Amino acid sequence: MFLYFVFGPLLLLAVHRSYYLITNYIAARKYGLPIIILPASSEEPWWMPLRPLFSWVESLPLGLGSWYLYTDMGWSTVDENRTALRLGENFVLCSPASNAIVTCYPPGLDRVIKGHKNWPQPGAQNRLFAFYGENIASTNGADWQRHRKITTSAFNERSMHQVWEESIKRARSLNFAGESVRTLGRIRSTFDVLAMHVLAIVGFGQEGTLKSIPPGHRQSLMDSLGFILKHILLTVVFHSLKAPDFLLPGVLRQLKLSVAEFKLYMEEIVLTHMRKAAKGRSESRSTSLLEAMVTANEAEKQQGQKLTGASSYLSESELYGNLFVFNLAGFETTASTMTFALSFLATYPEVQGWLIEEVDSYYSSSKDHEYSSIYPKLVRCLALMHETLRLASPAPLLVRTPTTPEEIPIITPTGEKTLTVNPGTLVGIHTYAAHLSPRWGSDSQQFNPKRFVSSISGEESLTVPEGGVFLPWLFGPRVCPGKKFSQVEFVAIIAQILSEYRIEPTMRDGESKDRARERMVGVVGDKFFNISAHLKRPEDGEVRFVRRDTK
Ligand code: HEM
Repeated sequence: MFLYFVFGPLLLLAVHRSYYLITNYIAARKYGLPIIILPASSEEPWWMPLRPLFSWVESLPLGLGSWYLYTDMGWSTVDENRTALRLGENFVLCSPASNAIVTCYPPGLDRVIKGHKNWPQPGAQNRLFAFYGENIASTNGADWQRHRKITTSAFNERSMHQVWEESIKRARSLNFAGESVRTLGRIRSTFDVLAMHVLAIVGFGQEGTLKSIPPGHRQSLMDSLGFILKHILLTVVFHSLKAPDFLLPGVLRQLKLSVAEFKLYMEEIVLTHMRKAAKGRSESRSTSLLEAMVTANEAEKQQGQKLTGASSYLSESELYGNLFVFNLAGFETTASTMTFALSFLATYPEVQGWLIEEVDSYYSSSKDHEYSSIYPKLVRCLALMHETLRLASPAPLLVRTPTTPEEIPIITPTGEKTLTVNPGTLVGIHTYAAHLSPRWGSDSQQFNPKRFVSSISGEESLTVPEGGVFLPWLFGPRVCPGKKFSQVEFVAIIAQILSEYRIEPTMRDGESKDRARERMVGVVGDKFFNISAHLKRPEDGEVRFVRRDTK
């Protein structure tokens, strides 16, 4: 009887899942593409906490557990382009939940990305981070256009100027002289804090007010935002927790406080700026992204409604939702990119020398480090960012699904074909396979930022291949709105660090410099995905910051 109760439901579940797997498999066969069969998929929320319990299947003989890798959301960060090299530029992940056509075929990517209106993000995934309000990342169609118009107007040259200055200031205060030896884990936490500071200051305004605790609050704005960003998955699950504090473990008590405090700060600051905007202060005087956003919103409220009668502006909760999502989207991506870039620099001293040449010519030699005159000259620094993102993208697989049957071009061994993709079938944009494709040449796996620089009569400029071969920020209408923000921030930080320090891997006892670098190559190549790209063994890599004026 006991066995009946235990195994009966399990058997029913197995039959139910097998039915859907077979149905999806039959549908997938029609595509004529290689198929990888998965018993569970990363889209299924119940699978993610259970997944670690099944890690042993990977050591099964005859590749019986090879499916396990593909059941992680960030599998392509680990796999890079290995599956694409084995199966081709398109293949299908078939699970009981869905079929996902994974592709890195550039014309296919172009079709999906540029035709974003017909290829929205699947609903459940993009609404995960909408707990403060709907936002640019959680919406599609006309709603998304409304969010995009108001929010991106805040990302003007004035704010880039501020990103530049704040990033230099922050990079100067990193104390590499006092703490000259750092593991790559420590480097990551250094950049976590730095990225968060730059975002909060450019996003909200004055630094002093961010760190203090004003009357009516129990935590500073910086601390509440910092806690949420560092515990984002926990926040997704527990953001609406209502239980009394004494019933909660410490971390959830803290989380409940931070979620409430951050909301209160947003309400207060938005209200203040709305009052200012109502008094007619112009956008050109805005001192933060938030202020610029509120000003643009107030202007839209008056203008847009007059013209169309329909709501073309953002509600208060939508303003909160956007503020939060900009902080979230800009935090991990930046910290991840900076960590990988610094690791690459330590590993490849000749590339570092090439960058220092540029930094000395334009940045170190300038007294005021003026954004508008210096930033455009730091082409090699920007090339370093592009190469880092090519090899270690924080956004490994972007998923879309069509609203009505849509066609995409795919490539097979017999040539190009057109597939009709039905609603419910996913298309996975395989960034890593695009970035490491042999289309980049025989050195596609090598770290070489020079590939992004071309020179005409001694004048260097950045050359970035267009379309579906390189898409770290995506492209087309839904391109990352923080693209320039992240570029300006990255270049400022790299230029500031290299103007003062060289970075080299530390050597273990008896290890030669070359051996230490080889070890770093292994450490930097071993990564996984958790919101962004992370090193798997950050404590195995260690770097030293050597003051350039002491050598
Ligand atoms: C190295 C840095 C960055 C990378 C590689 C990156 C990459 C991306 C990618 C690939 C997308 C598209 C995601 C999708 O459509 O599924 C995206 C969207 C977005 N990014 Fe970034 N990003 C970076 C930095 C930033 C920064 C600094 C901010 C804000 C200050 C930001 C804000 C956003 C927002 C709000 C979206 C959603 C846009 C929309 O759906 O229309 N990102 N980013």
